[in-house]
Order: sequence, then structure tokens, then C-alpha cells
Amino acid sequence: MTVLGAKSFYFFSNWKMYLTVAESVDLAKEYKDLFKDNAKDITVAIFPSALAAVAVGEVLEGTDFSWGAQHVCGPEKGGYTGEVSAAMYGSVGAKYALIGHSERRHLFHETNHDVRQKIEAALEAGLTPVLCVGETRAEREAGQTEEVIEIQLRAALAGLSYPSGRKLVIAYEPVWAISTGLHSEEAGIQCDPAEATKVHRLIARTTEVLLAGVERVILFGGSVRPHNIAAYLGESEIDGVLVGAASTTKESVVELLSAVHFQV
Ligand code: PGA
Repeated sequence: MTVLGAKSFYFFSNWKMYLTVAESVDLAKEYKDLFKDNAKDITVAIFPSALAAVAVGEVLEGTDFSWGAQHVCGPEKGGYTGEVSAAMYGSVGAKYALIGHSERRHLFHETNHDVRQKIEAALEAGLTPVLCVGETRAEREAGQTEEVIEIQLRAALAGLSYPSGRKLVIAYEPVWAISTGLHSEEAGIQCDPAEATKVHRLIARTTEVLLAGVERVILFGGSVRPHNIAAYLGESEIDGVLVGAASTTKESVVELLSAVHFQV
């Protein structure tokens, strides 16, 4: 049972560059165990490193849990040293691809144009894109949050021919609230759930215009931790969470689930 009433939710785990292959395989096995009794209520997907992806996929084979790429290359094939295409991920069983994550946008200078190309490549490869959008602190302080989010959504989705039956997954990740409070003794900087809700409403309105009729899932990400997960999931506009650091150890996943009163 959950404090969230009958709400089922998405729990997407972005393992970033935190785990080795062996650690990823071990944690994927733990996930299978931790979530097995809650599979009806929680849609779980793991985003392992590119190196660990196939091994994690093997662990999850035959379960209700999915996995996805943290990053894909737009072009399908060719001279792109170090890259892995959406098609390659699709061919080994990935279901999702994170696209436009703020660490990709800011650390690796991915533009809205790149994001659009990757969305198209992911769809073509049969993957469901998890489009990440979010404003920086400076943009928020300048009152530009809505404008930035709308520009990111339009660039990624306007005029897209979206395959019928495939969901559209958007993650609102305020850049200023990502990766804070990594240790339990630090409070970190979090986005107020009511503020997150306002942006989720904007995303719902905008995507309804851009891709009318496509089923939408809107996740929140940005320092989701055991002490705040219930507050985010308690908002009806928040369909689930995209969790980074706190999804990378068994102990903190147990704490996250316990915080929303799931039996583990
Ligand atoms: P975080 O990461 O939970 O560590 O802030 C979330 C994300 O960047 O996807």
C-alpha cells in the first residue's frame, strides 16, 4: 500500500557514470528483487552506462522492467568515434533513450537541434524518447523558465510525426536542482513541488498543442531523495520520478520506496 492512494508511478533510474559493469549487474539484480512485488504499481526503467547496457538488459530479460540508453548518437551508422546509435541500442533490447539531459546539454554542448535529431533517431529505432527539459538558475532568476521550456519542447517536438501507440515521456529537470544533497547529511537544493507542478502543467499544455492525442507521461527529476519523493509524487501532475544519485545504491532505493510506503 502507498500513502499516495491508488497512484501508480514511474521510477526511472539514471545511473549516469556512477557504476562499473559488475556493480550495475549486481544492482540490476537487486532492483528485480526490490520491485518484484510492486511491478503493477511502479513502472521501472534503468538507464545504465553504455558499457553496462547489454549486461543489465540480460539481467532484466523476461521481467516487467525495462532499460534505456543514457545518450544516443543521431546518425545511425558511420564515422562517429566513441558514439552508439539509437538503432544499436534498439537492436539489443533498449526500450527508452534519455534525450536532452541537462548534463549532455551543458557539459557536452548539445543543442536543441541535436536533441531534435536524436528524438527522430530514437523514434525510428523503435525507442521511446525521454525528453529532458529544464532551465538554469540564471534563466529562472531572469523569469525565463516558461520561455526556455517552451523553446526546448518546440525544438524537439513541433511537426514531429509521432508513432501511434507510443508514449511521449518528458522529464522536467530544473538544472539548478540536479545532483544536490548527494549525501544524507547535506540538505541540497530542491525544487519546491508546487513550483515543479507549475512547470508540469506548462509541459502538459504545450505538448498537447504540439502533439495532440499522444499519450504523455511527465516525470520530475532533480535531487529526488528519500525525504522529498513523497512530496513530488503527491502532486497529481507528476507521473513519476527520474532519479540519479539516489537510484545507485540498494540502500537508498529501499529508502525511496519506504518513503512512499511500498513494502520491500
Ligand atoms: P539527481 O539526478 O537525482 O542526482 O539530481 C537526476 C538526473 O540528472 O537525472
